[in-house]
Amino acid sequence: MILIVGGAGYIGSHINKMLSENGYETVVFDNLSYGHDDFVKWGSLERGDLGDIESIREVFRKYQVDAVMHFAAFAYVGESVTDPQKYYQNNVCNTLNLLQVMLEFDVKKLVFSSTCATYGNPVEIPITENHPQNPINPYGRGKLMVETVLDDYSRAYNLNYVSLRYFNAAGADPDAEVGEDHNPETHLIPLILDAAIGKRENIKIFGTDYETEDGTCIRDYIHVTDLADAHLKALKYLEKGGKSDYFNLGNGSGFSVQEVIDRARQVTGKEIIAVESERRPGDPPVLVGSSDKIKSVLNWKPKYSDISVIIETAWNWHKKNNDLK
Ligand code: UFG
Repeated sequence: MILIVGGAGYIGSHINKMLSENGYETVVFDNLSYGHDDFVKWGSLERGDLGDIESIREVFRKYQVDAVMHFAAFAYVGESVTDPQKYYQNNVCNTLNLLQVMLEFDVKKLVFSSTCATYGNPVEIPITENHPQNPINPYGRGKLMVETVLDDYSRAYNLNYVSLRYFNAAGADPDAEVGEDHNPETHLIPLILDAAIGKRENIKIFGTDYETEDGTCIRDYIHVTDLADAHLKALKYLEKGGKSDYFNLGNGSGFSVQEVIDRARQVTGKEIIAVESERRPGDPPVLVGSSDKIKSVLNWKPKYSDISVIIETAWNWHKKNNDLK
């Protein structure tokens, strides 16, 4: 049984689907503060909060947990600056609760959602795993703290973990069974698609004077199903006795905000009005990762690396999700 903590969210729900399709039994633990119960279409759902350690123990008593995947975290970078307590309390302290219960029940395999935000402002592109980790906001710092804790626990308690440092997760399940639905939404692609369906008037481009070819920020967008596949491979690696390790997860190629908007116009056939706006504080001009390590160690290979395909899957989900509402 695989415990998916935060499995009712965007990324966790895609992993739940992939694990189920690959013959794993899953149980989702989620407080549904940001997750959606109708995203838990596979396995069972146990509603509970990592802040309540007894509710975690209950799940471990009820199910024979073999490994844990941990997605439950707040992920609004801006909010982490204005309300750091919320981030350290949940993303760090509550993760310690989860680890404590794992150790109590002798569960020693964990796949952890980390982030490229642990690197801070890049001093070298593409970013490899050896790049210095100097996060510039509480969100990134909290994730790095957990990475450090995992490293110590791994040595002291034989806990084997894989940390996956995501670049920009994007796209949706190609069958459109689950997808991206944040409230509030801050991510580029769903906001562009909101503009495409007329839910928003336009998409604001945050900064057009960066030192990039077209002046807009460049990001490395990785399809959520490719992310899910990396989690499956990380789990299999741990099952085979693989030692603790950490990997970047990106496509290794960057697209500017302007390019993403242009592609979205092509994919959707909609006009999509873009408005030039001020820079958003804290945005590095370029974030592109090297995923060579995970390719060679876990034999991971992205299937949906084409940005148009990423947008197309997001678009199919977006239309469906908004018709349903
Ligand atoms: N952007 C716009 N207009 C918008 C929204 C975003 O121009 O309305 C731009 C941003 O400035 C950025 C790019 O689009 O240049 C991507 O922005 P997102 O908010 O979609 O994603 P981020 O790169 O800011 O954030 C992602 C993850 C975070 C993670 C971060 C690491 O969503 O969880 O990468 O840097 F922390």
